[in-house]
Amino acid sequence: MGCVALEHQPGQARAPQDPGRKWCDVGCGPWEWIYEDPARGSNQVPRLAGILSPFMANDAKRKGRKLLTVRDFERLARQRLSKPAYDYFRSGSEEERALARNEEAYRRWVVWYRVLVDVAERDLSTTVLGIPVATPILIAPTAYHRLAHPEGELATARAATVAGTVYVVSTLATTALEDVAQESAGPKFFQLYVHKDRGFTRELIERAESAGYDALVVTADTPLLGRRLRDERNGFCLPDGLVMSNLAHLAGPTDGSMLARYVAERHDASFTWKDLEWLKSLSHLPIVLKGIVRVDDAVRAADEGVAGVIVSNHGGRQLDSAPATLDALPGIAEALRGRCEVLMDGGIRSGADVFKALALGARAVLVGRPVLWGLAAGGEDGVVSVLRLLAEDLSKTMALAGTRTLADIERTMVALG
Ligand code: FNR
Ligand code: LAC
Repeated sequence: MGCVALEHQPGQARAPQDPGRKWCDVGCGPWEWIYEDPARGSNQVPRLAGILSPFMANDAKRKGRKLLTVRDFERLARQRLSKPAYDYFRSGSEEERALARNEEAYRRWVVWYRVLVDVAERDLSTTVLGIPVATPILIAPTAYHRLAHPEGELATARAATVAGTVYVVSTLATTALEDVAQESAGPKFFQLYVHKDRGFTRELIERAESAGYDALVVTADTPLLGRRLRDERNGFCLPDGLVMSNLAHLAGPTDGSMLARYVAERHDASFTWKDLEWLKSLSHLPIVLKGIVRVDDAVRAADEGVAGVIVSNHGGRQLDSAPATLDALPGIAEALRGRCEVLMDGGIRSGADVFKALALGARAVLVGRPVLWGLAAGGEDGVVSVLRLLAEDLSKTMALAGTRTLADIERTMVALG
């Protein structure tokens, strides 16, 4: 069914209220979401096929520019964010080589597709830690969502619920973890940074458990903060009124260097495997260890009884000489087969990227920056749009690859091109 682009009357403040159409005012004029024709049937969740803003409407006709890819959303986000904010969200550490490696790795793999398979309907659903999700695309923990949009983590939580996926909420959120949990009707995990102040760490875990989080994601790759040159050059700091809400009583002003100093002063760089036992004693929540690239570390994590690992290099923001996470994934997936769940993140920008990660052994992936671009572009609707765009792109890739369900996506379907 074709897309129905709303005929926009210039200056018209709001679209006619129509269930199949939704507007979002991103502050530079209402944007119209183009949905597949609602006549398709009311039980069909209108699926976004792109966004056409009024002032881009003519542009689109001329240049065909719509918001149809993650890159399109990044371009809009860049227009709407201050330079320091965009740089903070976008940057990798040092020369940003790990950031580039993450994205470039996907281009090195090709898909050996099957034909003559019934792919009229595709099923993207799966489970993560036994929790049903509509797609294998989860929201990675990223700090400071209110820096991207006034509703911040609350908008992201609502979007995760709409998209039927897991939201992993950062310790360094700009909204208290209890408030985010309140806003979310779906599965949510709490990402934990272990602090030197073990009493404070325990308090965070107890708060997350009381607030109804479904798992703890313990980040293991940040004993210190990677060197963020853009933040240092920008003198990046959270604007007045924004704080790291879960730590407000701990943190001073968090400018780029102060954030690095905060992490250096507060994070426990002495946190080791033996402390995982202590962490497990504090909560019944399943623990997922995030930030692993080595097979022996992944095996150690499984030996320690974690429920899952996230193959991750923090989006290229920590050790700049880190390998691409897609390259680290196959060995870890092979070694952990059936012992615990293997998730991965880093550089996912399309449905084909998700397909390749699943074929190389990930049970599901997480996306960081794409969610931030959606948030900056259009708040909750923007995040929903990006998640739906990635899910629809995955669905299309599955159809063209001859795979109806995620279980059909096998290792033999990808190879270095
Ligand atoms: C992050 N990431 C991160 N990870 C974490 O465990 N706790 C955190 O608070 C943050 N904060 C954060 C902020 C920003 C701006 C970015 C870009 C990333 C890392 C994040 O969870 C994830 O590993 C990467 O973002 C995945 O890579 P992509 O999808 O951004 O390429
Ligand atoms: C970062 C920290 C907050 O990557 O995890 O910015």
